[in-house]
Amino acid sequence: MRQCYIAGNWKMHKTRPQSADLAKELVAALKDGSNKYLVAPSFTNLEAVAAVIKGTNIRLGAQNCACEEEGAHTGEVSVLQLKDLGVQTIILGHSERRHSYKEDDALINKKLKLALKHGFEVILCIGELLEEREAGKANAVCETQTVQGLAGVSEAELANVVIAYEPVWAIGTGKTATPEDAEAVHAFVRGLIAKQYSQAAADKIVIQYGGSVKPDNAAELMAKENIDGALVGGASLKTETFAPIAKWNAK
Ligand code: PGA
Repeated sequence: MRQCYIAGNWKMHKTRPQSADLAKELVAALKDGSNKYLVAPSFTNLEAVAAVIKGTNIRLGAQNCACEEEGAHTGEVSVLQLKDLGVQTIILGHSERRHSYKEDDALINKKLKLALKHGFEVILCIGELLEEREAGKANAVCETQTVQGLAGVSEAELANVVIAYEPVWAIGTGKTATPEDAEAVHAFVRGLIAKQYSQAAADKIVIQYGGSVKPDNAAELMAKENIDGALVGGASLKTETFAPIAKWNAK
């Protein structure tokens, strides 16, 4: 059985004290939770949140990293700096990075390999645009993003990779993929992993769903066989909406 993994992507929200307060509330709310948990605050708030969640069942995530270890990269943040802050997981290829900041599969793959080399867990986000879904290309887009994102990654390294399927049209819009539509893509992506790696790797890999996950739709999504948790944006910003999603436990 795959572990259910619920992650909160706080995006560019909250100041340091606000982040620390939310982290404190979540530590209390999730202390008896049986799933795997992560919060990903802004870079500037990582240290404050790290101090609060240290030694708890909540992992510390970053929302991005640079594709080089160090050097002349104004405005970028290195894996070495993230490691120093206690970050354990890095979210890569989020659709906001792909579409607003023009990150392509080659760049995401470079970041992913660097993060894995430094021992991080990576959440690789994939997902199609609305026009791609309407053109019947959802699977093809997810295939390209998965295969190119994981190019050169060994089966041993894949053990530190989580995939998050986030249809772009469902992010922050209030529109959620139906559990059946999401499950179909998740099953397709798991099949890709079986083809590229092995059935054992496919059986093991955690595939989260993301895109307007809320307390009232999380259960039916995560009840699907191939949906192993959630990457939550808006609803992760408040304990009263994140905790009910995070504490879901039916598998
Ligand atoms: P949302 O964001 O839950 O606000 O749709 C999800 C995400 O972008 O990871």
